[in-house]
Amino acid sequence: MTRKPIMVGNWKMNVDHIEATGLVEKLHYTLVDKDWDPKKSECVLCVPFTDIRTVRTLIDGDRLQFGLGAQNVSEHDNGAFTGEISASMLSKLGVQYVIIGHSERRQFFGETDELVNAKAFKVLGAGMTPIVCVGEGLDIRKAGNHVEYTLDQVRRALQGLSSEQVAGLVIAYEPVWAIGTGEVATPADAQEVCGAIRKEVAALYDEATAESVRIQYGGSVKSGNVVQIMDQPDIDGCLVGGASLQPEEFAAIVCFYQ
Ligand code: G3H
Repeated sequence: MTRKPIMVGNWKMNVDHIEATGLVEKLHYTLVDKDWDPKKSECVLCVPFTDIRTVRTLIDGDRLQFGLGAQNVSEHDNGAFTGEISASMLSKLGVQYVIIGHSERRQFFGETDELVNAKAFKVLGAGMTPIVCVGEGLDIRKAGNHVEYTLDQVRRALQGLSSEQVAGLVIAYEPVWAIGTGEVATPADAQEVCGAIRKEVAALYDEATAESVRIQYGGSVKSGNVVQIMDQPDIDGCLVGGASLQPEEFAAIVCFYQ
């Protein structure tokens, strides 16, 4: 089966709602100039909560071919959870994707695999697609345990999900040591783990589910390395941080197939 490549820009805690308009428009016009074909790659913007309404309005008003995502969600439905945002709040704003378990959430906010699993259920329950992030730190990589460590995160994150749910997921492999550092995993390093993730999904579910789930690589992806990364058989897209804030760079990543 052919999996549609998916390029996701994670703006992280950058770009306020005023700046968002300029960034989205610049990205759109750069993609038009490049003759981007949305049938050949999907482009999703995961923006801060405060930008969601603005970006949704731009996408709808100008009929832009961008998907819209959030960067986190609460594991609760509603109630006395000051500062939290629920899955239904996001879906009602037209959010389609939610990043869960990003390494920065795990590292700075103590998110566990169990929490990631609970959030996956909430996102799916609200009709959105989780982008489930996994990946090892440098110490684990140096010890040579990166594959088993990452597969364990995958197993825990997917616990209890049906094959239909997993088939529609996006799983992002992001080695923590490659995030925002300029250190990129080699294409072979990335393929090793992404291939192992697909095999694990086949073992946990079945071949059809494994063939359908989309697996991304993330970590210092740029226009200069995206082609080699996307050349790997088990890599179906990229989760892009820093370069997604630069329209020229991100447009080149989205148009990697040219
Ligand atoms: O969510 C994106 C990743 O953390 C990668 O960030 O492209 O700045 O290394 P980066």
